[in-house]
Amino acid sequence: MSTQPPASDNLAAALAATAADVNAELDLLLPLPEGPERRVHEAVRYASLDGGKRLRPFLVRQSASLFHVAPAAALRVGCALEMIHCYSLVHDDLPCMDDDDLRRGRPTCHRRFDEPTALLAGDALLTRAFEIMAGETTHADPQVRCQLVVELAHAAGAQGMVGGQMIDLQAANLSMDVPAITRLQQMKTGRLIAFACEAGAIMGKAAPQQRQALRNYAHDIGLAFQIADDLLDIEGDAAEVGKALRKDAEAGKATFVSLLGLERARAQADMLAEQACRHLDPFGERADLLRATARFIVERRA
Ligand code: IPE
Ligand code: IPE
Ligand code: MG
Ligand code: MG
Ligand code: MG
Repeated sequence: MSTQPPASDNLAAALAATAADVNAELDLLLPLPEGPERRVHEAVRYASLDGGKRLRPFLVRQSASLFHVAPAAALRVGCALEMIHCYSLVHDDLPCMDDDDLRRGRPTCHRRFDEPTALLAGDALLTRAFEIMAGETTHADPQVRCQLVVELAHAAGAQGMVGGQMIDLQAANLSMDVPAITRLQQMKTGRLIAFACEAGAIMGKAAPQQRQALRNYAHDIGLAFQIADDLLDIEGDAAEVGKALRKDAEAGKATFVSLLGLERARAQADMLAEQACRHLDPFGERADLLRATARFIVERRA
């Protein structure tokens, strides 16, 4: 009989370890200076410390480990990416967007502070992320740092997350079919997840086929992740998820679930998770935690 713990136990422990490291690093990267501007720093820390699954830094860490990248560098890149993610959540929750009161089980940034402060906290997280990514401690090779900055900008900007958010805001009024929703979700959610998976390959100067394998994996888990988010919006437990639910239907938003129905959407997410794992074949068992992550993404309850 095998004495190995199940993959899901390993994953839970590895996710918890990353979350602890991310918190400690963000605490260092986001200091709290004295002065009249202190309030925005407080809001930045409120929006980014102590919360969330830290899935994106975890993906950076795991992809980096495939190429023997220094763990401290991977953590720094993961934290910069998490700052972008946290900024996107702060702005997503604003009254002019989704108008939400709860995030990660706590009042949203604009509810805890106020709207202008939340807007500025998002701006500050976005700019600090690029400052960290470009910093010398991120990588010894300036070309690698440059590539990280350019790829992150593409993933976060109007071709990526911001563009996806723009389409999402119109999703109630546009007639959207499955290809249109797929494109929207790839931009809104998929691109930052794809950056997380490719960052390790960039830092480790991986061969093009290896980078492509991670890109294919990321494509599938990114879509699966957003389908799971849409399913949780309908079937989740608000206390567990830590944010308001049933928002998509209320807003009349087209999602995978509204187009496919619950069962087909779930089947699609499961199929994508399986397909994602197959893209990891070239990495053998060193990619086991990435495989477990694909399953976690579709089985998660938060
Ligand atoms: C929520 O992302 C927003 C989407 C992109 C759907 P996460 O589910 O990763 O949120 P946290 O970081 O764990 O709070
Ligand atoms: C937001 O998507 C994704 C971002 C780019 C921030 P949602 O609006 O569905 O995210 P939740 O459900 O509020 O976390
Ligand atoms: Mg939204
Ligand atoms: Mg939202
Ligand atoms: Mg959602």
